[in-house]
Amino acid sequence: MKADTFARFCAFLEQHSGILLSRDKQYLVETRLSRVARAQGYATVESLIETLLSRRDRVLAREAVDAMTTNETLWFRDGYPFAALEKKFFPEAVAAKKSNYRIWSAACSTGQEAFSISMIAEEQRVPFNLDIVGTDLSEEVIAKAREGVFDDLSLGRGLSPERKRQYFVKASAGWKVAPQISRRTQFKVGNLLELRPESRRYDLVFCRNVLIYFSRETKAKIINRIADTLVPGGYLLLGASESLTQLSDRFTAERLPTGGTAYRLKG
Ligand SMILES: C[S@@+](CC[C@H](N)C(=O)[O-])C[C@H]1O[C@@H](n2cnc3c(N)ncnc32)[C@H](O)[C@@H]1O
Repeated sequence: MKADTFARFCAFLEQHSGILLSRDKQYLVETRLSRVARAQGYATVESLIETLLSRRDRVLAREAVDAMTTNETLWFRDGYPFAALEKKFFPEAVAAKKSNYRIWSAACSTGQEAFSISMIAEEQRVPFNLDIVGTDLSEEVIAKAREGVFDDLSLGRGLSPERKRQYFVKASAGWKVAPQISRRTQFKVGNLLELRPESRRYDLVFCRNVLIYFSRETKAKIINRIADTLVPGGYLLLGASESLTQLSDRFTAERLPTGGTAYRLKG
């Protein structure tokens, strides 16, 4: 692929998704787009990119961006955020006599994070209404999350055999999340670059392992918009290796009793 084609595709990708590719990621574009090129009948990745950049083909644009997302996720990822639901967030909501509690799993991929949250709520028998909204840029992963069917390999990544037995029912293509877990979840396609203020705010936002793909400016913009979606005093959880340092002064960092950090919206 010509360096110029790669550079123009990178600009297109960042504009549509925020995802910033470094110069050494040409192979990644070649590999991931070759699947789309084959499916759409393009002889080369380069010809697909040329069409993409010269025509406003929304379907092709969506497929190309979708193919460039990294959807790696697992059940109860990093442990401590889920232990913190049990030890801090849910008890605080009970103490505040909340009747409704809303959690946003931003960039939720195939839904493991949202379903893991719902499993903790089930085990804690939370006395309030809990809504867990999962959003992701990729239509493909949102379709999978909505379907809620996982194979043994993906269930093996972080889910205990007890929880598999309790919360899944056998389906022809694997194991389907049981209704007592899926009932609290809903999944929608949503781009973090296009966040709009919502009428109903969130008590807690999980936005983990996605900011790493963005430039500092994009991270700061997204964090600010996430702050606008939280209730006053609401919390934001980032990935284990991510932090808000030099990105926003609207939060205070709080060490969690279970390890890790939560960011509390000021005011
Ligand atoms: C590595 S996964 C992280 C999944 C989950 N949050 C976790 O920590 O396990 C990153 C997800 O971010 C999504 N993503 C990338 N750019 C996005 C954007 N601009 N808006 C919404 N989601 C995006 C990808 O589609 C992908 O599913």
